[in-house]
Amino acid sequence: MLKPHVVKELQRIVGPENLLAAPEQLLVYSYDATRNEALPAAVVRPKTAEEISAILVLANREKFPVTPRGAGSGMSGGSVPLMGGVALSLERMNSILSIDEQELIAEVEPGVVTGDLHRAVEKQRLFYPPDPASSKFCTIGGNIAECAGGLRAVKYGVTRDYVLGLEAVLPTGEIIRTGARTRKSVAGYDLTRLLIGSEGTLAVVTKITLKLLPLPESVRTLVAFFPDVYQAAAAAQRINAGRILPRALEIVDAAALRAVESYLKEDLSSGAGAMLLAETDGSDDAAMAEIEAIADRMRSSGAVRVELAATEEERERLWKARRSISAALYALKPRKINEDIVVPRSRIADILKEIDAIAQRHGLLIVNFGHAGDGNLHTNIMFDEGGRSKADVAAKEVLEAALRLYGSITGEHGIGLTKAAYLPMETGDAALAAMKKIKDALDPNHILNPGKIFLSAECGVRSAE
Ligand code: MLT
Ligand code: ZN
Repeated sequence: MLKPHVVKELQRIVGPENLLAAPEQLLVYSYDATRNEALPAAVVRPKTAEEISAILVLANREKFPVTPRGAGSGMSGGSVPLMGGVALSLERMNSILSIDEQELIAEVEPGVVTGDLHRAVEKQRLFYPPDPASSKFCTIGGNIAECAGGLRAVKYGVTRDYVLGLEAVLPTGEIIRTGARTRKSVAGYDLTRLLIGSEGTLAVVTKITLKLLPLPESVRTLVAFFPDVYQAAAAAQRINAGRILPRALEIVDAAALRAVESYLKEDLSSGAGAMLLAETDGSDDAAMAEIEAIADRMRSSGAVRVELAATEEERERLWKARRSISAALYALKPRKINEDIVVPRSRIADILKEIDAIAQRHGLLIVNFGHAGDGNLHTNIMFDEGGRSKADVAAKEVLEAALRLYGSITGEHGIGLTKAAYLPMETGDAALAAMKKIKDALDPNHILNPGKIFLSAECGVRSAE
């Protein structure tokens, strides 16, 4: 509950119409794609950095938590207002401020939908490569908070590789500008990189300067089906080691294929045991030569069917299927834990074997799909209502297996609240202590997104059922 004078002050800052407190409104801002939820006491929808600054100054004075929020499509609970307080929605800050064709940069507000930015820059034959599977509805601010990766990371890298500078409000209310509008700048500590991936715990980002590329002339997409996921993984590993660089290389196992086929009511695979989806880009000749080289490797690695998308509609159909997997999996079981482990790209088959053994040991259905080009697998541990504790044990074992293979517990979804208990397994105590010192220095009262990244003694919550 917020005190009445705090509510009044918030209304004064954002305008009464931008403070929401009706139960049904609070519900809308209470959860993300993990289906964890916690109700905020109020939602504020500021329009400017100055308003956000005033909100955070008030939060420090009155000691209430503030949880920044984009579209709520996050996969680790980052925008769930775990400790109540205020959900700070950036939905009204959604303008593409400029696209500079001379400098190849765009300046945007955090609430811009990533797919809208893609379309806007592509009209000018420019290219913003990061492409999370949720690009139709996720926002650039959320992508920055989590350092989103997505489907084109194998060739083009992740969100941080395209951010030149930020405007952000620190938890104590100061408005700062980081980085530059130039391709290079080494002026002081790299605060831009510190804030990217900080999951809304160190600042609220209010303006973003993004680097753009020229739009590739041509794109070629190919789908291949395999008898099982191990053969698909072996083919992916051959491609990864083969001096070819697709812009996407996605793997989908049999259970994920069946789920998405029934979700979209279409037969993609004729019952195949796994799918690889590859895409190349560049000049017409280069994109074609590379996709043909990939097709050859798929055939010689045991693919039962290899097809080049002949039209834009076919291409769209394949990507729609890939982007729909996460939602489709709920048809298999009512609950899931969606991990996003990364392993060295040569160890994909090894981690799949380990995951299979974990699934067998616990009698659980574990579904795998993801970004085979960068070793980033979405391992979904499926369970029934009431089956959380067994799934939690299996999830921890999956993370341990990734670390044993010299991987990481999260490639692109972030720690949030769902992996806070496991962060020390990867960082060790000294690095974790350094991270906590940064948090303490910038947010002395822990008002900004408390309970995320670091396991919180105050709430003791790791993940809701
Ligand atoms: C994806 O690649 O589909 C996204 O990261 C979402 C997910 O993991 O389900
Ligand atoms: Zn992903």
